Amino acid sequence: MKPLGDVPWPPEQIVTERLILRETRTEDRAGLAELLSDATVQAYLGGPQHTREELEELIPHDPNTRPGIFAVEHAGEFIGRITIQRRDRAWSHHVRDEGDEVEIGYEFLPSTWGKGIATEATRAALDWIDRTLPGEPVVLTTQVANERSLRLAQKLGFVEVERFDAYGAEQWFGVLKTG
Ligand SMILES: CC(C)(COP(=O)(O)OP(=O)(O)OC[C@H]1O[C@@H](n2cnc3c(N)ncnc32)[C@H](O)[C@@H]1OP(=O)(O)O)[C@@H](O)C(=O)NCCC(=O)NCCS
Repeated sequence: MKPLGDVPWPPEQIVTERLILRETRTEDRAGLAELLSDATVQAYLGGPQHTREELEELIPHDPNTRPGIFAVEHAGEFIGRITIQRRDRAWSHHVRDEGDEVEIGYEFLPSTWGKGIATEATRAALDWIDRTLPGEPVVLTTQVANERSLRLAQKLGFVEVERFDAYGAEQWFGVLKTG
C-alpha cells in the first residue's frame, strides 16, 4: 500500500444526501474490525486476515494513520471505508509510464448493500480526488468475479484497460473516463 502523499488531511468532512465522508476516528474501531473480519466483505480481497477480536487489538487507538482513507458514516454509524492510495510504479499494470496513479477501493458492510450507498459515497470521494488532485488518472482493480464491485466501477465511469491474473484470480484493471 503506497500512501497518497501530500494532500490536505484530515479533509473537510464531505456531506452527501445520506452520508458523511471523513477521516477515520477512534469510535470507528469496532466498525473497522467488523468490516475487515467479515468473510462476505473480504471474499474477493483475499479473505479476512484476522478475527474481529484480533483486529480490535491491532487497530490503533487513532486509526487515522494516513491520508486517503475515508470513513463513511450513515445515520451516525460507521458503515464502510473508501481507500485512496497510489499505484506504486514498481507494481505491474499502469496507465502512465511513471506509474503512481491514484487508485481507489471501497468496502461496505453487507447490511448496506443494494441501496446505492456505495455509489453515493464513491462518487463523493471521486469528486474529492478531482478537487484535490486535478488531472491525475484514477484507476481501480477488482476481481472479475466480484460482480457487484465491477458493476459499481462501470456505473461510476471506469472503463477497462486490461485483465490479468493475480492472487489466483482474474483481475479487472480500469481507469476513470475523463471528459
Ligand atoms: C462492492 C460494493 C461496495 C458494492 O456495493 P453495492 O451496494 O452493490 O453498490 P451500489 O451502491 O452500486 O448499489 C447498487 C444497488 O443498489 C440499488 N439501489 C437501491 N437504491 C438505490 C439508490 N437510491 N441509488 C442507486 N442505487 C440504488 C441499485 O439498483 C443496485 O442494485 P443491484 O446491485 O441489484 O443492481 C460492496 O459489494 C462491497 O462492499 N463489497 C465488499 C468489498 C469489495 O469487494 N470491494 C471491492 C474492492 S475494489
